Amino acid sequence: MIREVLRMGDPRLLQVSQTVEAFGTPALHALIEDMRDTMAHLDGAGLAAPQIGVLLRVVIFGVHANPRYPDAEEVPDTVLINPVLEPIGEEMEEGWEGCLSVPGLRGVVPRYLSLHYFGFDERGAPIERTVQGFHARVVQHECDHLEGILYPMRVRDFSRFGFTDVLFPGQNVQDD
Ligand code: NI
Repeated sequence: MIREVLRMGDPRLLQVSQTVEAFGTPALHALIEDMRDTMAHLDGAGLAAPQIGVLLRVVIFGVHANPRYPDAEEVPDTVLINPVLEPIGEEMEEGWEGCLSVPGLRGVVPRYLSLHYFGFDERGAPIERTVQGFHARVVQHECDHLEGILYPMRVRDFSRFGFTDVLFPGQNVQDD
């Protein structure tokens, strides 16, 4: 079921989400199905459970080859529960981000270039990956939602924050 995505200003987006205690349950599967439906409907790259008002440590993400974004790096479809991120080194990289909870805007955000991440899929099977670049950026953005952090809170240079259609005229840039 497509759910309403909360927008910046809703206090639920600022909460710290709770650890998932039980895997493979009907409730967890239903949540993830709703998250998938909602992300697909909005053509997003990722979604965190608190964005649909469920304060649990669940994120989904995935980016595929799309002729509209020939330079976008692919990211596998992933359900990541109770994630733990460990940056590799101190190096940060700046890049443009958007968010389904901040529609119509984009900003440049510094993120760790490289990291390990750990967590579980919806059945409780462990996930462990080492990633860089755009994949690392997507994971950091989504996991920030679980701490109540929205990307504008990480923007350092507000001369590179604005409306998508003004920043990128004539381009069809997705929101998240
Ligand atoms: Ni977001």
